Amino acid sequence: MKTLKEVVSRPTADRVSRRQFLAASTALLGAASTVTSRAAEGTSAANADPLPPIDPGYVGPAFFDAREREALLEVWESRSPFRYWGPGQPVKVREFEEAFAKQMGTRFALGVTSGTAALDCAVAALGVGPGDEVIVPAYTWWSDYTCVVHAGALPVFAEIDRTLNLDPEDFARRITPRTKAVIPVHLLGGPCAMDPILQVARERRVAVIEDCAQCVGGSYRGRRLGSLGDLGIYSFQINKTITSGEGGAVVSNDPLLYERAVRFHDMGSFRSLFAERTGGARAPVFAGENFRMSEFTGAVLGAQLTKLDQMLAALRTSAETIRKGIEGLPGLRLRTQPDPAGDIGTGVFFEVASRAERDRCIRALQQQHVPAATLTGSVLLPLDEAVVAKRTRHAAWPSFTSPEGRAIRYGPECCPQTIEIFDRFVQIRIGPRYTPRINDHIVAVIRGFFTGAAKS
Ligand SMILES: Cc1ncc(COP(=O)(O)O)c(C=O)c1O
Repeated sequence: MKTLKEVVSRPTADRVSRRQFLAASTALLGAASTVTSRAAEGTSAANADPLPPIDPGYVGPAFFDAREREALLEVWESRSPFRYWGPGQPVKVREFEEAFAKQMGTRFALGVTSGTAALDCAVAALGVGPGDEVIVPAYTWWSDYTCVVHAGALPVFAEIDRTLNLDPEDFARRITPRTKAVIPVHLLGGPCAMDPILQVARERRVAVIEDCAQCVGGSYRGRRLGSLGDLGIYSFQINKTITSGEGGAVVSNDPLLYERAVRFHDMGSFRSLFAERTGGARAPVFAGENFRMSEFTGAVLGAQLTKLDQMLAALRTSAETIRKGIEGLPGLRLRTQPDPAGDIGTGVFFEVASRAERDRCIRALQQQHVPAATLTGSVLLPLDEAVVAKRTRHAAWPSFTSPEGRAIRYGPECCPQTIEIFDRFVQIRIGPRYTPRINDHIVAVIRGFFTGAAKS
């Protein structure tokens, strides 16, 4: 059994920038994921064509073209970068919100400055505060924890399962009379098992905030993610699908929740544009923040949104080819997919027998230029130093001064299943520009490893 110190000092729990975090995870076991065609020549016996560089890159920027440039220029020429007024007639954020709501299948959408801000708005919309508990998966991004803490509420971790997302049974076990909300996070491009999660949430009267930051455009049983819960949130940071560098959105079908999210993102205001959308104000003003989206951001996102389905088609084709090419291999078990058609294809994930086997597999795959890594882009939150120590901006923070807040213990004991799953999974990162030649190479190398060719 590992000591807490050993577990906490893993690279995944380090306080580093996202860029460093992803780079470190990818390079964790050696080779970089990008290779030259020269270096990779001859790695696949199945195909004699030279192998192009294998670089997953960034999805949204790979699709930047004249549409983004023209939209940006329109804002620049109108000299109106603020969404509500200026010398011209700013429309970019408004139009993006309307198009985004339509594509996500919700009544309302709100553009904000980041996915983190979107989570803060969603939590504020529900009126989560001191004395409330919010259930969050033990493996996810920091913002799912900080949005609860910043509201003064208590984060309660639930295990992930082999979907790599919230375990519905453990979610049910963690509910108490104080549980106000749950945040199912559609992590690593794959939808959560929403049917059992929604059933438990409805029966136990727990509000649902879907975090779609890592799965923008994904779906579950034909419905776009974000439209199934009470609220949905998205991130448009560069590692996601559509991107404006930074940016986020909140969606809802509920006019009151939408109004409260709008008020929170704009210092309590509910401007006429929003009142027209919802049919008038329903809630009193309350203290909010400034998370307003700029017209430049709205311009880029409006252009990117027209290409979302194209991005997903490219990713899904490669992911599906690779999944089909390796499924059933001895010693490898693919990630459980509650709805394979709804996965956005940013990665292919499989489980091996042990942490040592995972590391050996990643090393062997990287040596043959396959972009293999441990699970990346999130954190084993209960092992994070600030979480374990319940450290906040003020020693008397209400999250941890209630009896439940004082009693709760984080650390590895609260999520053994999550740690075990994290330790055994290998990730193959997928890029939107992978060619059939690249996909064949990845399949051949993985097959070689699991059928013995690379076991020496
Ligand atoms: C699951 C998840 N939720 C929320 C966020 C926060 O998004 P942002 O970086 O735009 O604040 C991220 C960012 O990576 C994320 O991965």
